[in-house]
Amino acid sequence: MQDELAKIGVMRDRLSDLPIRFEAVDYRAASLAILSGVTFDIFPGEPTLLLGPNGSGKTTLLKLAMELLRPSAGRLTFADRQVGAVSRSAIVFQKPAMLRRSVAANISFALAPTNPNVINHLLDQVGLAGFEHRPARRLSGGEQQRLALARALARDPEVLFLDEPTASLDPAGTKGVEDIIVRIANAGVKIVMATHDLDASSSEPLRRTSSCPLNG
Ligand SMILES: Nc1ncnc2c1ncn2[C@@H]1O[C@H](COP(=O)(O)OP(=O)(O)OP(=O)(O)O)[C@@H](O)[C@H]1O
Ligand SMILES: [Mg+2]
Repeated sequence: MQDELAKIGVMRDRLSDLPIRFEAVDYRAASLAILSGVTFDIFPGEPTLLLGPNGSGKTTLLKLAMELLRPSAGRLTFADRQVGAVSRSAIVFQKPAMLRRSVAANISFALAPTNPNVINHLLDQVGLAGFEHRPARRLSGGEQQRLALARALARDPEVLFLDEPTASLDPAGTKGVEDIIVRIANAGVKIVMATHDLDASSSEPLRRTSSCPLNG
């Protein structure tokens, strides 16, 4: 019985969540309409961008796609299912919160086995090799953003949701983080990224992606 349950758990884990389909989705908080009639699909492949000004509902939409919130009306499906598979997605919030611990401990927190080789590989991927023993909260904003990316990758997600990952970074920091995002996408992780300004300096692969515009 236990084995059977474990098997089902593993199978659920391996189910794809894509496409994630929004059909006439509304989201209301109290009586306030935050999203109305949102219809769009998140397909596998190239990154999907959510474009919209401050307050247009980007963070709310990401939370719906992560199942952290439920639609007030309409239908949201994951590869035609009503719920997503367990641990197939990860999110980097607009202001990622660092644990009051070392850089390495912030990643091992997200990992089942805390293998130092895995941690060092993840740090290498985000340009933080050698940072493992530093206190995470002392890192600069751009470094914390990259650590948050490594922590999300530690979950080996199929879909990685990013909420304005470059909003508070300078042009060099922005380019650094965007280059990492493009590499993650090229490695086969589906990127869904909210942003209010995709300017001309943004990485070419991100400017070419499909997008869902939201109106403020
Ligand atoms: N739980 C809530 N209760 C009341 N209002 C809310 C709630 N959640 C979001 N809102 C409002 O809904 C609107 C959309 O919020 P959301 O955070 O999704 O926007 P956003 O596009 O991510 O904005 P920003 O670019 O500033 O991050 C805002 O006006 C916000 O104040
Ligand atoms: Mg937001």
